[in-house]
Amino acid sequence: MVPKIVILISGNGSNLQAIIDNVANGEIKAEISVVISNRSNAYGLTRASNASIPTVVFPLKPYKEAGKTRVEYDIDLAKKILEYKPDLIVLAGWMHILSADFLQHFSENVINLHPALPGQFDGAHAIERAYQAFKEGTITHTGAMVHKVIPAVDRGLPILTQEIPILPEDSLEDLEERIHSIEHKLLPAGIKKFLSEL
Ligand code: GRF
Repeated sequence: MVPKIVILISGNGSNLQAIIDNVANGEIKAEISVVISNRSNAYGLTRASNASIPTVVFPLKPYKEAGKTRVEYDIDLAKKILEYKPDLIVLAGWMHILSADFLQHFSENVINLHPALPGQFDGAHAIERAYQAFKEGTITHTGAMVHKVIPAVDRGLPILTQEIPILPEDSLEDLEERIHSIEHKLLPAGIKKFLSEL
């Protein structure tokens, strides 16, 4: 049976595109069952539709407006994902932190892409923080990783990591561009590795 992947996004979806391309060219032997976005205007939804992949918009706002909790949102999101019976759930630029209430529905098969090395620059704005740390002389390089998701943000077991140089002449945009182009290879490679160990 071809493994099924559910992908969660919040924005541009350039990493989603890398997965779509690697499924299309046979590098990743899997089916993308659905792309779920918490934002209705995420460009990644257009990328999914262009590739004839079903999409679901699953925003937090209606929950807040109805006085429901974040835990209720997380549980309903988990239930929505489980409808697709996925082998793997990929967070590809998903900007919500997922709680233990979400993760308890899954068996260590949720993975995330993070633009920093393990234990460095957890959470948001990791690239800006690495750039600043380089300017202050506290780091010589940064990196990116694909890791399993646990309740502690960006602290789960790494599946693949890659060091990425920072050059003295780099602007922040240069560094962002370098990291993103590496992420576009690292995430498909991380998915391949995960699937090979199923
Ligand atoms: C990536 O840099 C990823 O590491 C971070 O969010 C960004 C998503 O970019 N978690 P995109 O939406 O895949 O273009």
